[in-house]
Amino acid sequence: MAEGKRTIGVVTGGGDCPGLNAAIRAIVLHASLEYGWRVVGVADGFDGLIWPERSRELTVETVRGILPQGGTILGTTNRGDPFAYPVKEGGRASVQDYSARCLEGIQRLGIDALIVIGGNGTLAIAHRFSQMGMKIVGVPKTIDNDLRCTEVTLGYDSALHVATDASDRLRTTAESHHRVMVMEVMGRDAGWIALGAGIAGGANVILLPEIPFTIENICGMIRRREAMGRRSSLIVVAEGVRLPGQEARAQDVPGPLAGHAANAIASALRELVDQEVRVAVIGHLQRGGSPSPFDRVLATRFGVGAVELAAREGYGRMVSLQGGKIESALIAEAIHPVRLVDPAGDVVRAARAVGITFGDRL
Ligand code: F6P
Repeated sequence: MAEGKRTIGVVTGGGDCPGLNAAIRAIVLHASLEYGWRVVGVADGFDGLIWPERSRELTVETVRGILPQGGTILGTTNRGDPFAYPVKEGGRASVQDYSARCLEGIQRLGIDALIVIGGNGTLAIAHRFSQMGMKIVGVPKTIDNDLRCTEVTLGYDSALHVATDASDRLRTTAESHHRVMVMEVMGRDAGWIALGAGIAGGANVILLPEIPFTIENICGMIRRREAMGRRSSLIVVAEGVRLPGQEARAQDVPGPLAGHAANAIASALRELVDQEVRVAVIGHLQRGGSPSPFDRVLATRFGVGAVELAAREGYGRMVSLQGGKIESALIAEAIHPVRLVDPAGDVVRAARAVGITFGDRL
């Protein structure tokens, strides 16, 4: 490391998604080749600031060949909020505030500015650090596509490819067996993946957290199709839907309850329709694997844009796609409230216009 050289850190936080490595690569290449900066890769989300010894320098050599790779070479976690860090000692669980340790970690690693690649949760943490004086630049990523101030988040397009491919496959087997197929996709708060994959995959029913539905309305659609001689139906459901009659979400905590929404809907349908009903939960397949060409390009543009933002000292901001161009926005404005599907928006209207039901009317 050259004395006096500017050092930027890069961290990936929250659930992973395709395109993280492409963004890391772009940051490292642009920061080193254009500015001659040193780049430190922070390991495992903010854990790498709490335990800085895990972090390491990233060079042009280190990032060679990672463009098409899924996951993140830095590691990540969606359980490591340094302001409320879950600790287990001697079988006893507690929550510790490790934020001061992160500030020390930044100093120990010699990081002047930190590029945080994350979704809502990670960027909310980054925003708190920013308020404490940390020099932060954000890159919006989440397959859920639920951040504000950007037309799209990194990872969404790749997840949509996986979910659309799954719809295509499920549709053919459903048709062969004359079945109702319920496919559950990710989307904890927002239904962007269900909406996109439902339209792209030719679903008959799309169920979103944003649009309350009833089982009777879904049955109505299935019966109408039967009356027209269509003996199979495809229902795409976002994991975060509120089940009819239930106040709580089908899935408040991610992971362990995957499949809860689809199975609950399938069970209710089985009571009311003659056809067999099957469930497919595609889960983490949506987060894995190689990024789509769109996400590779977006990651590269976001990564380069983040370095440019750091060069301009545009701290507290994240890169964003606006009007097809790379712009920037305040992280504070991007993270809250979550960007939801507009039930009256043109995408939902287009879906309705081609006969897709959202279960909210007969
Ligand atoms: O936030 C992204 C996301 O993929 C959500 O759609 C999903 O609920 C959650 O992460 C799953 O997280 P985990 O990897 O902890 O199961």
